[in-house]
Amino acid sequence: MTTPSYIIAGNWKMNKTPQESIDFISALQEKLILNHKTSKDSASFNTVEVLIISPFTSLYPVKSISSQVKIGAQNLFYEEKGAYTGEISPLMLKGIADYVLIGHSERRQIFKEDDISINKKIKTALKHEFNPILCVGETLEERESGNTFSKIENQLTADLDGLTVQEIQKLVIAYEPIWAIGTGKNATPDQAQEVHEFIGNFLIEKLNSKNFSDNSKTPLILYGGSVTPQNSFDLLSKKNIKGVLVGGSSLKIDDFFDIIMNCYKVAMD
Ligand code: PGA
Repeated sequence: MTTPSYIIAGNWKMNKTPQESIDFISALQEKLILNHKTSKDSASFNTVEVLIISPFTSLYPVKSISSQVKIGAQNLFYEEKGAYTGEISPLMLKGIADYVLIGHSERRQIFKEDDISINKKIKTALKHEFNPILCVGETLEERESGNTFSKIENQLTADLDGLTVQEIQKLVIAYEPIWAIGTGKNATPDQAQEVHEFIGNFLIEKLNSKNFSDNSKTPLILYGGSVTPQNSFDLLSKKNIKGVLVGGSSLKIDDFFDIIMNCYKVAMD
């Protein structure tokens, strides 16, 4: 697959040992292969990329068994080597991770990552040919005070600073309202669509300001925050929602598989 139309990404966060990761991915791939053999709808399989963003310790073992899924890391450091105890270099991920998650709200809030380091991480990820997934999103307070769009615009402006058209085109953006993460309270499809449209317009404006000539490729925008098998179809049916970033529901194989199936259904239409 060259450019997917949708991405279904499971962000495992700090969950699963290497063996649990291998067992999960083996079982998931078996279910996917069986589904592909028995379903008539083969066209949609090629447009939906399934991605597991595993802990660092699982990346190497799962990469060697992954055939139906892509593999992502949850973070990377912007230096290549040196005295940075506890950090992971892009060189250590090379050939193992296809995608790298950057600026997840848990990294921003708990580990105090700021937009300057997130911008450096994006540039490092691009330099080493990873596909960066940049996370942005507002707090409940920001939403309730009417500052959702300004928060997202500020994050995108700082995080994408200095990137070329071609670099921006390689990104994936994940809109993750912080109030929806791990709370069981997802954004409604309309609330999510409204912000996705805003992000899409922001990106097109940014690309146009840099003499964007190839209108065919703009970043996919994923929604994340309490995605479940029950709400995923309606979210994915929205025009500007091109995939989901799934935390809790990606830890249970049946739930994650059902979300992938819902995306196939949407992709078929
Ligand atoms: P959640 O997490 O699905 O558990 O809300 C999403 C995320 O943090 O990426």
